[in-house]
Amino acid sequence: MKIAVAKGDGIGPEIMQAVLSIFEANKVPLEYEYVDMGKWVFDKGFSNGMTPEAQETIEKLGILFKGPMETPKGKGVKSVNVTARKTWNTYANKRVFQTLHGVDTVFSKAGIHIDVTIVRENIEDTYGGIEHMLTHDVALSRRFITRPGSMQVIKYAFEMARKKNAKRITCGHKSNIMKITDGLFLECFYEVAKEYPELKADDVIVDDLCMKLVTRPDLFDVVVLTNLQGDIVSDLCAGLVGGLGFAPSANIGDHICIFEAVHGTAPDIMGKNIANPTALLLSGLTMLRHLGLMESAATIENALLYTLEQGIHTGDFGDKAIPALNTTEFANAIISNFGKLPAQGGKPTWPNKPITPTTFKLEKNPLIMSKEMEEEVIVGVDMFIESFEQPTAVADKCLKHTLDLFKLVTISNRGTQVWPKGSIFTNLVNQYRCRFESIGDAPLTQIDIIELYKRLSVDFKICSTEILNMWGGKKAYSLAQGQ
Ligand code: NAI
Repeated sequence: MKIAVAKGDGIGPEIMQAVLSIFEANKVPLEYEYVDMGKWVFDKGFSNGMTPEAQETIEKLGILFKGPMETPKGKGVKSVNVTARKTWNTYANKRVFQTLHGVDTVFSKAGIHIDVTIVRENIEDTYGGIEHMLTHDVALSRRFITRPGSMQVIKYAFEMARKKNAKRITCGHKSNIMKITDGLFLECFYEVAKEYPELKADDVIVDDLCMKLVTRPDLFDVVVLTNLQGDIVSDLCAGLVGGLGFAPSANIGDHICIFEAVHGTAPDIMGKNIANPTALLLSGLTMLRHLGLMESAATIENALLYTLEQGIHTGDFGDKAIPALNTTEFANAIISNFGKLPAQGGKPTWPNKPITPTTFKLEKNPLIMSKEMEEEVIVGVDMFIESFEQPTAVADKCLKHTLDLFKLVTISNRGTQVWPKGSIFTNLVNQYRCRFESIGDAPLTQIDIIELYKRLSVDFKICSTEILNMWGGKKAYSLAQGQ
């Protein structure tokens, strides 16, 4: 079986070398095709951070084992990590955080065992990176949460929880504030939950979830979240089990899967051969199990757990009284412990039954669609305009242009209503949202909205527009704070 390997930037080549040396010593039945991806590929002029040959190889083989890759901060190039996840629709990011004997944490010292799996939606949310400056003072990021995208990742999380014999699955969200986007994610969660009656499905607001995870992590089993919240919560969980050096990650899609560590390129320690390869090794073990190589995975994992139990460590963790090993020495220590079982209990060693990844070529992307079942009526429009004037002056200008079709119902600034009622204490920026609704709920057309747009543009720069729809008599938009 052949897989694609990208060594990555920074410490990537060092930890990849360590992990592949362990695989080789264990005679893991895999062949590797190395592909060109990362910062150095950007620098050569490939704007998505990978060569066309790399893309072709990964799409042919279906499995990518990758080291961390650098994303230059701020403006300019996009993250190759995010591009890879999005391009190949690896919609579920599974991150397993477990207590490891030999890796001391406040919880291990208190005898509290942690085994939490975070499933993070991997494609949508603000990670589309669709951002605009609306005025010189106001930046806007678009956050997409879709029903098909949410269903895909939530179904994966439930299926994985069932296979893992989990007792509880929790949805982390912020639907008390983001009622439409996180509300949709939560709705999908409970829709899928109906098909898994054996699992206790519940939800926790994400800030409360963070507090509960750091006080009683042992109460959680599988947690599913949207992309950004999942990213933050999974780093928090990495901290619970000893840091980023122990946090593996699998990006699961229907056709292509990417296995990598949660951590980045660690530029501060690159080139010194002192990085901890455990997170990449744990990611590699998830990959071996994904490929049906159960025996190889169990032997290596038992050797890793035994090694950690012996107090053997790299410089980033462990007992400072015991000298730290470098990356190569640490890998060799694991190799020398093949066949040993950890006192905490060894992993069962089922025989290898290789599974060939599904790598058929997609001729056409299947578009998952929910049919619009309900009656859809346009009832208004939000016009986002630039203005340096006070709300009443903005309202006066808007009211000149309402035609016979629209009424001006509210003006808000940063989401807070400032007209017809508001507070002098609400701080203003130079961008307002003016909400126009149809008179007497009469249905509007897009042409009516274009006419309003033309009229308003005489007085204002219009930065953005959103149509207000009613679906089956329900508002498909949120109210302004104070409306
Ligand atoms: P980082 O994870 O690279 O480093 C954070 C801290 O953890 C540093 O002090 C580092 O030395 C330490 N650390 C990380 N991995 C370690 C290991 N295996 N052994 C010992 N210590 C380790 O995060 P940072 O500095 O924010 O990001 C550096 C670069 O990595 C950025 O360009 C970022 O975009 C990229 N990155 C890439 C990821 C990926 O490829 N999936 C994920 C996260 C960041």
